Amino acid sequence: MENTHRNYSFSEEASQRKNSLVIPYYVGNKIQKKVSNYTESIQIVNLNTRNLPGIPTVVSGKVYTKDKQPVSNAKIEIWHADDAGAYHTDRNFYFPRQTTLSGCILTNAAGEYKIRTIRPGIYGYRARHFHYKISAEGHTTLETQIYFKNDPRILIDEIAIVAEDSRVIDFKYSNTGYLEGIVNIFLPEI
Ligand SMILES: [Fe+2]
Repeated sequence: MENTHRNYSFSEEASQRKNSLVIPYYVGNKIQKKVSNYTESIQIVNLNTRNLPGIPTVVSGKVYTKDKQPVSNAKIEIWHADDAGAYHTDRNFYFPRQTTLSGCILTNAAGEYKIRTIRPGIYGYRARHFHYKISAEGHTTLETQIYFKNDPRILIDEIAIVAEDSRVIDFKYSNTGYLEGIVNIFLPEI
């Protein structure tokens, strides 16, 4: 499958230059409280805990090993700006604490995850994006960003423009009105 292949290449490259993608909005403590319980079946986690306005969005996918086996119990942390492009923090820019539109999910036995939120807004010169941090025992931790295909702002965003194709996701509207995208992640072993 074309998609699968592209996602593998994404993460292999992303893992090699993850330091260039670290952004200061992540605060672990707050997110830790929202860790979902590990289950065999897929469980959807709501990141929009304050019901902020925006286009309802669902992101799902799988975490794989190099030999294409699912990584269960992998921790995926996701955070993003609201519809107006603001991060929901209650501290200053350098030491923020994101109070909504952030969360954490553990992959199930099949390596799957699914989150519900709103479409990230835009700010500054940045293209529309999700922040991701993925970690699992015995694997290299990845920190990266996911973009929206056909977002013209990618062309003016020096961070987004170098993203591998597989990190630029073709989000589409479902017949239930949700913007939906699939983000599969290859997680290298240590
Ligand atoms: Fe950001």
